[in-house]
Amino acid sequence: MKKDKRLTYKKLRHPEIGNIRVYQVSEHASLAAAQFISDITKDNPVAAITYATGETMIPVYRALATMVNRGEVDFSETKAFHLDEYYPCSPDSPHSFARYIRERVFEALRISEENRFLINGLAEDPEAEAQRYNSLLKKEKIDLAILGIGPGSHIGFNEQGTSFDKETHLATLSQETTNRDKIERGQNTPEHAITQGISNILSARKILLLGYGSKKGTYLNSALTESITPDIPASALRLVGDKVSVFIDNEAARSLNIGFSAV
Ligand code: F6R
Repeated sequence: MKKDKRLTYKKLRHPEIGNIRVYQVSEHASLAAAQFISDITKDNPVAAITYATGETMIPVYRALATMVNRGEVDFSETKAFHLDEYYPCSPDSPHSFARYIRERVFEALRISEENRFLINGLAEDPEAEAQRYNSLLKKEKIDLAILGIGPGSHIGFNEQGTSFDKETHLATLSQETTNRDKIERGQNTPEHAITQGISNILSARKILLLGYGSKKGTYLNSALTESITPDIPASALRLVGDKVSVFIDNEAARSLNIGFSAV
């Protein structure tokens, strides 16, 4: 058993990924993730960070906002990017990731206006918008990329079959992803998105991947225990495993075909 400040976790031994932590419940993993992000910002107050959106991140960003409001950490000089945005998508639409980032990250973490970098889901030419965002990313060394994992073990909106070399691009969402949005979540989301590519993600100095619950456990199991292949997008993280941290809950860990280590 290890103590992450207040939070107990078990470490999972993996051949490529050095830091896999299993927390008892997702709430603990989210608090630990917030602590991890805050520590990076305290060490480097001008850190450049890529933020995932989605349900997994809501409690993480909420915990970070609480730390900011208490004056425990200052994100104002950090640079904030996001992973992806539906296309076409108005920044005011309820499912817009730009909106999510504006509200839950830019505003909640009080990031300075000049350090906020959004993907424009209404750009006339989505390929040109992907290029514009990619150029912004390439001017920076991203210190931390925060990721969730979704249908088909996607990261960002890099769906199964996406080459690991791809940079920011216009992606077609898989049936599994659009079904999740439409059927499971009742959201009528577009079938395309502009997403950072796996190459952008892998070039970050550190990567934090979060996944909770049994369904995420099955996506994680493919990514961690099957082949490293574009058919399992998150498996790419094993190519840079020494800079990857994976925080999961017990429920997700139960779906993994690798045992707990006693360390
Ligand atoms: C979101 C993103 C996606 C999500 C994934 C999990 O910016 O890039 O890869 O991280 O689909 O989504 P949730 O957390 O909503 O289950």
